[in-house]
Amino acid sequence: MPALVLLGAQWGDEGKGKATDLLGGSVDYVVRYQGGNNAGHTVVVGDQKYALHLLPSGILSPGCTPVIGNGVVVDPSVLLSELSGLNERGVDTSKLLISGNAHIITPYNVTVDKVTERFLGKRKIGTTGRGIGPTYADKINRVGIRVQDLYDESILTQKVEAALDVKNQMLTKLYNRRAIAVEQVVEELLGYADKLAPYVADTVLVLNEALEQDKVVLFEGGQGTLLDIDHGTYPFVTSSNPTAGGACTGAGVGPTKISRVIGILKAYTTRVGAGPFPTELFDEDGEALRRIGGERGVTTGRDRRCGWFDAVIARYATRVNGLTDFFLTKLDVLTGWEQIPVCVAYEIDGRRVEELPYSQTDFHHAKPVYEMLPGWNEDISKAKSFSDLPKNAQAYVKTLEEMSGAPISAIGVGPGRTETIEINSFL
Ligand code: GDP
Ligand code: IMO
Ligand code: MG
Repeated sequence: MPALVLLGAQWGDEGKGKATDLLGGSVDYVVRYQGGNNAGHTVVVGDQKYALHLLPSGILSPGCTPVIGNGVVVDPSVLLSELSGLNERGVDTSKLLISGNAHIITPYNVTVDKVTERFLGKRKIGTTGRGIGPTYADKINRVGIRVQDLYDESILTQKVEAALDVKNQMLTKLYNRRAIAVEQVVEELLGYADKLAPYVADTVLVLNEALEQDKVVLFEGGQGTLLDIDHGTYPFVTSSNPTAGGACTGAGVGPTKISRVIGILKAYTTRVGAGPFPTELFDEDGEALRRIGGERGVTTGRDRRCGWFDAVIARYATRVNGLTDFFLTKLDVLTGWEQIPVCVAYEIDGRRVEELPYSQTDFHHAKPVYEMLPGWNEDISKAKSFSDLPKNAQAYVKTLEEMSGAPISAIGVGPGRTETIEINSFL
């Protein structure tokens, strides 16, 4: 059985955690391939709610092996506290595998993230402050620390020295901060080595062997398509590739192995942090979406910016990811509106534009062109099949599907595992 990718089709927080958890019971491996603990994935199982940041959402399915791939950046202290938090709640985490090639978020990466954001002032990105960008920058600059470095003290010391050489100059001379001592960082990192050792593995080999043995592998993206460093709204993006191609590089699996790419799509739009957002609402409707949808960040607790559904973005996500299906989430949140606006195109400096403009300047000027769809008042949270939905809700889903360019194979009508309408099987 081949591999599936599940990723965010908008600006993150689409409900990837719930979707991954739902499939987790039927797959053998769930793999995170990029990002780090900037992610916040909520999973609701019965009356239990879990907030996962670094661990793949498959960790809650007993038969499933969770994997942290080489493309992920790992903060060891966050990982260990997430593991012990789950253990205390009776979740078995012993199957976890971590790539020895994954990069480590060091304490100085977190410091650099915070000071650079402060330095940017009004131009800040609004990062999660978890050290994500600086850790990926170190990786690309070839001064990063990898999980495997924890097992060779001499190499670790040399690498931390090399990384801090430049950073300490920057911290003291430019940012007016105290220098960070090499020994202190090395000591802290070595303290994690034994605790992480049972999980460290050659995950590329494990995953490719699993695929050869017809096991089912699910790749779970963090963040979303429009936060992608290459394909998102640069520079207001994260520093990795949440798009489908990232699954190949971030896990070491060839593109020929991937047979299905599922885009998680919220029935409206949200965004956290700075950057353009054409359908953003600043009125009572935006406030209502935030309140009814519980749109508050799982990682930083920030209010999410809210707006109507944007079909231009959904089409773009279909294209750059080669999406085969959508999982439409949070349809229940839209219950109660008489009419629901959907953005079908943009108006940019007097022109109608149907596709996402590649120019940052154009995108900043994009004004949404709305089509009004009739709403519904019936409670849809108990709907089990598409035909259980009111006619107008059915029409809303069908219109989104036509505009977005891929079939909608599942619909979320509530946060719980069972609050899902399955239309086509993903497996
Ligand atoms: P992720 O980062 O993509 O995993 O999404 P988050 O967990 O950050 O945010 C999605 C939120 O919506 C979480 O609180 C989920 O429990 C919740 N959620 C997911 N699907 C649905 C749905 O279909 N309906 C409702 N009402 N809530 C949902
Ligand atoms: P999940 O996986 C929503 C946003 C931040 C900021 C930008 C860069 O839960 O969907 P970073 O710390 O990554 O350098 O911040 O990206 N961001 C997210 N927004 N959901 C996320 O993850 C996010 N991860 C990062 O708010 O604008
Ligand atoms: Mg989230």
